[in-house]
Amino acid sequence: MQSLFKAPIEQQYKKLVEMLNIMVARLDRQAEVLNLIEQLGTRHQQYGVKPEHYFAMGKVLLWTLKSGLGDRWTNEIEMAWMAVYELYATCMMLAK
Ligand code: HEM
Repeated sequence: MQSLFKAPIEQQYKKLVEMLNIMVARLDRQAEVLNLIEQLGTRHQQYGVKPEHYFAMGKVLLWTLKSGLGDRWTNEIEMAWMAVYELYATCMMLAK
């Protein structure tokens, strides 16, 4: 999977934060944002991203958030993140 990422790791970190921002900041405007997510999905196909990568990324994302939040992590938070990640990842995977 690492060979997909051409830029240095510091820039990948920025992209992770950007990705989290996209997912959280637009939670209340999902209908309008799904179109943008679909376009993001098309670009990811061009980057060479495959469906199995989304499953792996989902696990890594949850693990990272869980480790970061420590005691503040709850089942409710986990369910909310799983739901939003699954929605966006599915939309990206199905993009033409
Ligand atoms: C919900 C899931 C994801 C979101 C919201 C997301 C978001 C983003 C964003 C905002 C960019 C910046 C470039 C652009 O807008 O086209 C990007 C780039 C990229 N993403 Fe994702 N991403 C997701 C999943 C993944 C997965 C699963 C992989 C593969 C492991 C991946 C690999 C990449 C690569 C290779 C780039 C280009 C990096 C570069 O060379 O500059 N992304 N992603």
